Amino acid sequence: MKKVLVTGGLGFIGSHTVVELQEKGYEVVILDDLSNSSIDVLAGITAITGKAPIFEKLDLKEKSKVESFFEQHQDIVGVIHFAASKAVGESVEKPLLYYENNINTLVYVLKSLVQLPTQNFIFSSSCTVYGQADEMPITESASIKLAESPYGNTKQIGEEIIKDTCKSNASLSAIALRYFNPIGAHSSTKIGELPIGVPQNLVPFITQTAAGLRQELSVFGNDYPTTDGTCVRDYIHVVDLAKAHVIALERLVGGTNAANYETFNVGTGTGSTVLEVIHSFEKVSGEKLNYKFAPRREGDVIQAYADTTKANTDLGWKAERNLDEALLSAWKWEKHLRNI
Ligand code: UD1
Repeated sequence: MKKVLVTGGLGFIGSHTVVELQEKGYEVVILDDLSNSSIDVLAGITAITGKAPIFEKLDLKEKSKVESFFEQHQDIVGVIHFAASKAVGESVEKPLLYYENNINTLVYVLKSLVQLPTQNFIFSSSCTVYGQADEMPITESASIKLAESPYGNTKQIGEEIIKDTCKSNASLSAIALRYFNPIGAHSSTKIGELPIGVPQNLVPFITQTAAGLRQELSVFGNDYPTTDGTCVRDYIHVVDLAKAHVIALERLVGGTNAANYETFNVGTGTGSTVLEVIHSFEKVSGEKLNYKFAPRREGDVIQAYADTTKANTDLGWKAERNLDEALLSAWKWEKHLRNI
């Protein structure tokens, strides 16, 4: 059985990817420091797949532990690196924490990986690297704008570090997946998003409001130059995103990659406004959502949605689930969490 390391494998996207990997017959080893995830997720994964992944609680900032982990697992065929901090606002307040968590750890993992006989690496990047792109939909060749936040900067720098390492080391193959807005949960309702504290992202805020945990949703800005004045994003079902990781890994393991460093947009190709998301949620859940319009949120781009041509044709991956399905799965997950 081929062994894959998934760092941050108990997080939202990581856990869904572990399920897809196991279902494709991979042996999965998870490293996670539990800083933004729960150990209970392990049981959720195991309940879905019938097989417990190997789990080690490890902080990737501890370089010597990373080194000894890789020494003990020389047979890894690929690394999918999710482990990172991702709160934009927090990164502005604590930039060094973000550079340490997202950059130091990436360097340590890569340093160990390049010692292995097989060197395949998938990186969690973000459409945030494009900033406010000049043209929609966004292709992979769109220019990389000055980052709006330290978090965004860590994704840009992360990509540069990987690209440079690939240039100097032909044995290393890497793919950076630039995620658009992942939402939803596994259809089993055994795993899903687990925001700590007040959710910063739209969909968990919506589901928590509908479940009665939050009084009302603030829609940040209704005077943008879009069809209804609210921002446009490309919301992608987390299971589709998880499957993109497996396909990307198989591209590297099978050696069908076109270059040893590649980037792909991972989105649906469809933009939805905040109001469209709210209306879709109300339709699929049958719940009336309490919301009000509020001022724009600092740092928000007006619109961002993917041109998925490269992912569809070169990677051979396409999102299969639409916004309604994603929101319904997010709502089912929220109801499961709250015993509604
Ligand atoms: C945000 C980050 C992005 C990061 C991603 C990680 C910013 C500017 N961008 O994406 O870099 O990769 O999270 O998850 O923070 N909205 C509301 N009310 C809310 C919450 C959100 O109206 O309570 C709106 C936002 O203004 C935005 C849309 O919903 O238009 C989506 O917001 P969010 O889910 O936070 O995602 P992004 O901002 O796209």
